[in-house]
Amino acid sequence: MTLAGQTALVTGGNRGIGLATVRALALAGATVHFTARSAANIAAAQRALGDIPATGHLVNMNDRVAMTTLFEQGFDILVNNAATIGPIGRMLDISVEDWAHNIDTNLTAAFHAIQLALPAMLAKGAGTIINISSGAAHRPQEGWSAYCAGKAGLARLTKSTHLEYGAQGIRVIGLAPGVVDTDMQGSIRASGLNPVSQLPRASLAPTDQPARMITWLCSPEAADLAGQELDIRQPELRARADLPPLP
Ligand SMILES: NC(=O)c1ccc[n+]([C@@H]2O[C@H](COP(=O)([O-])OP(=O)(O)OC[C@H]3O[C@@H](n4cnc5c(N)ncnc54)[C@H](OP(=O)(O)O)[C@@H]3O)[C@@H](O)[C@H]2O)c1
Repeated sequence: MTLAGQTALVTGGNRGIGLATVRALALAGATVHFTARSAANIAAAQRALGDIPATGHLVNMNDRVAMTTLFEQGFDILVNNAATIGPIGRMLDISVEDWAHNIDTNLTAAFHAIQLALPAMLAKGAGTIINISSGAAHRPQEGWSAYCAGKAGLARLTKSTHLEYGAQGIRVIGLAPGVVDTDMQGSIRASGLNPVSQLPRASLAPTDQPARMITWLCSPEAADLAGQELDIRQPELRARADLPPLP
C-alpha cells in the first residue's frame, strides 16, 4: 500500500487506461477520484471496479467552471489521462473546429488541470503529476496532425512544469503508455490510415500495464524520474516497475 494517505485524481477514468489506473491506484492505497462525462459512465466504471472504492465526478475537461470546482478539494496526485484521438484524417479532410477541440481537450485542459492542482500541492511541498503522453508526441503519424501536435505540446508542458515547480516538490512525469488495447485503438483500426491502424489487436498491451507503471511512477521509488518524458517500452524502466519484458 505504497500510496496510503494520498488522494489522486484520474481524468477520463471511466474506461481504458484511465479506468485501469483508477483501479491500480486504489489497490495501492490511494483515495481515488476520477472524471467521466456522463452519470451512466460513472456507474459503468463503478460496476467494473466492484468493491474497489473510487469517487466519480461528472466533469467535461473542456468545462473550465466544472474543472475549477472539482479541484477545490486538492489532490496529491493528478493523472492527466483524458484525451481524444480525432479528428483522424489528412489536413485537407478535417475541420479547424475539430482540430481545435482536440487541442483544447488534450493540451489546454491538461494545462488547466495542472494549474488548478498546483496550489494545494505547493502548499504541502509535494505532489505528483503524470501526463499521459504518446509515441505520437515524438514521431508523427499520417492523419493525426491534431493528436501529434497536442501530445508534443503536452510533452513540452511536462518539461515546463518541472522547470517552474520541480524544485518546490512537484514531481511531473510524461509517460507514453505503449500501444494499448482500448477503444481509442479501435477508432484507429477503423480509420485504416497509417501503420498503427494495421496493428493486430492481439499485439496490443493490456490496460493494466500502463496502470501499473503509472502507479509505480507515483511511488517514492520513482522520485529520481521527476521531469522526465518516459516510454513504457524502455526495458530498464519496465524492470524497475516490475513489468514483464516485451516479447
Ligand atoms: N491506447 C493507446 O494505445 C494509447 C497510446 C498512446 C497514448 N495513449 C493515451 O492514453 C490515454 C488514455 O487513452 P485510452 O486509450 O484509454 O483512450 P480511450 O479508451 O479513448 O478513453 C479516453 C478517456 O478520455 C475521456 N475523455 C475524452 N475527452 C474528454 C473530455 N473532453 N472530457 C473528459 N473526458 C474526456 C473519455 O471519456 P468518454 O468515455 O466520455 O469519451 C475516456 O474516459 C490518452 O491520453 C491517450 O492519448 C493511449
